[in-house]
Amino acid sequence: MCGIVGYVGDRNAVPVLLQGLKKLEYRGYDSAGVAVYSETDGEVVVCKAKGRVENLENKLYDHPVKGRLGIGHTRWATHGVPSDVNAHPHFSSSGEVAVVHNGIIENYMEIKEILQSKGYEFVSETDTETVAQLIEYYYNDCGDITDAVFRALEKIDGSYALGIICRDFPDRMIAAKKNGPLIVGLGEGENFIASDMTAILKYTRNTYVLEDDEVAVIYKDDVKIFNLDRQEISKEVYVVNWSIEAAEKSGYDHFMLKEIFEQPKVVSDNLNHRFKADGTGVYLDGIKLDREVLKSINKIYVVACGTAYYAGLVGKFLIEKIVRIPVNSDVASEFRYKDPLIDENTLVLAISQSGETADTLEAVRLAKRRGAKVLAIVNVVGSTIAREAGDVLYTMAGPEISVASTKAFSAQVTAMFLLTLHIAMESGRMSLEEFREIKHEMELLPSHINAILSQAPIVKRFMEKYIDSKNVFYIGRGLDYIVCREGSLKLKEIAYLHSEPYAAGELKHGPIALIEPSTLVIGVATQQELFTKTLSNIKEVKARGARVLMIAMEGSTETKEFADDYIFIPRTHPILTPLLANIPQQLFAYYMAVGLGNDVDKPRNLAKSVTVE
Ligand code: G6P
Repeated sequence: MCGIVGYVGDRNAVPVLLQGLKKLEYRGYDSAGVAVYSETDGEVVVCKAKGRVENLENKLYDHPVKGRLGIGHTRWATHGVPSDVNAHPHFSSSGEVAVVHNGIIENYMEIKEILQSKGYEFVSETDTETVAQLIEYYYNDCGDITDAVFRALEKIDGSYALGIICRDFPDRMIAAKKNGPLIVGLGEGENFIASDMTAILKYTRNTYVLEDDEVAVIYKDDVKIFNLDRQEISKEVYVVNWSIEAAEKSGYDHFMLKEIFEQPKVVSDNLNHRFKADGTGVYLDGIKLDREVLKSINKIYVVACGTAYYAGLVGKFLIEKIVRIPVNSDVASEFRYKDPLIDENTLVLAISQSGETADTLEAVRLAKRRGAKVLAIVNVVGSTIAREAGDVLYTMAGPEISVASTKAFSAQVTAMFLLTLHIAMESGRMSLEEFREIKHEMELLPSHINAILSQAPIVKRFMEKYIDSKNVFYIGRGLDYIVCREGSLKLKEIAYLHSEPYAAGELKHGPIALIEPSTLVIGVATQQELFTKTLSNIKEVKARGARVLMIAMEGSTETKEFADDYIFIPRTHPILTPLLANIPQQLFAYYMAVGLGNDVDKPRNLAKSVTVE
């Protein structure tokens, strides 16, 4: 949602903060700011700018600030419009305390009114300014900044990752976390805080991953961590194994394109070591989902948001088709408020790239309270969902920087294949012969993805032809329909084009009225047994003047005959096609966004990690 970075050490903090903020910009990019303790002035100096980090950088170029302690923030607005004044860091009235915050303080109005009645004046519309003022209020009373922070935390409700500095304590910063990600980076003679590792990877790989209700007091040579009872606690150092290149563009124009092209490797990494050496099943990182456990499960529930939800729908489709266990599915924001039918005999699959999405996290907590078994499928190691779920299967996609998810989806879908095979084999629903056939086809997926990626120039030409589209329909049946939903989401997210995914057979029950001459319809038809059905729907839209772009299996002569344009995917087992059919859609959305001049990696109004409701 928002990105936080902080530094204490001997370097000039400003470049460290700016570089960190640039890496965190994917989390929010409507305004940015830094607060730095200036030794020459003996003051905390703040600089903020509406818009991208680049604007802040220009401002700092014109009005340089220097100091060895500082906090920075890139914002995705929740309270108050994007503006210089609403940008973080926020100061307390006297300029004593500066705060950056990711999350939402739910009772801020109540606290604000009390502080206003005591003479505190507020300048912004944000909930965060209340935190800075409240800390100052307690600081004036007790004269100790750590004590003041603890006292303020007792009063605030909501979610937060906080970075705090104080004019009178220029040797330290304080961090606190509840329902928002925050790590402490451990350097030599310098330490950091950050919303995620990418911000500080250049300086260190050693971190403390803060848990909820922990407070860290960070000096350049020491870090002390406390619980809310103010008892000091010891934590294990978590060493991150990401490479710096993984968080760089490496010559690609955009992170999204780089991440699309990383998919053969991502799928291959996810398959490596996941098949048992004797070829009789799948090994899932020691997750306890064997015959005995499965016997106790009579229902599976898929919960997730956005792209991760569509990966979950692939899992639902396959598990129901192959294992014949009923699988319900809900977007997490609905699940958590609908009193879902789950109990100790339910297996909940929670899927999330970031492992921090607020709705998915709450869904996990609800499921656990009801006694359900929760398996999280998560990309970011050590994230909150990964830590809170009973079991976790990591998707090993590496850092995904572009807001629109691509490689993480492919990793999640691969995890769904593996999970389906695992449950099918453990419950005796799949023969060894069929398992081996699918396994063989799965091992070919990375080279199939490469073959599709080599057609990127063709997809780029489609963009040139269809760039004038105002409405795009995606139609398909069965697994293809799920692929259409993800393809349509991608086009909305980055090309800002209105598009509708529709079950091909349902089109005639209303939406076909919207088909006009030249409407673009993307037909996905990879399922042999449904091909003629989907083709007849395609003929229906063609008859009404639509332009048709098809994604179909290699060698389909009817596709060549009926589509205006087509892209073929290599032949594979029918359950595996979602992974392949999605790739041309990713490329199409990408080129459309580039063609329309949009900011591909940071699309308007969106954030990569949505840690608020
Ligand atoms: C945001 C992102 C989407 C993502 C969704 C779920 O909306 O913009 O790309 O699919 O959150 O995120 P998660 O990290 O839980 O997979």
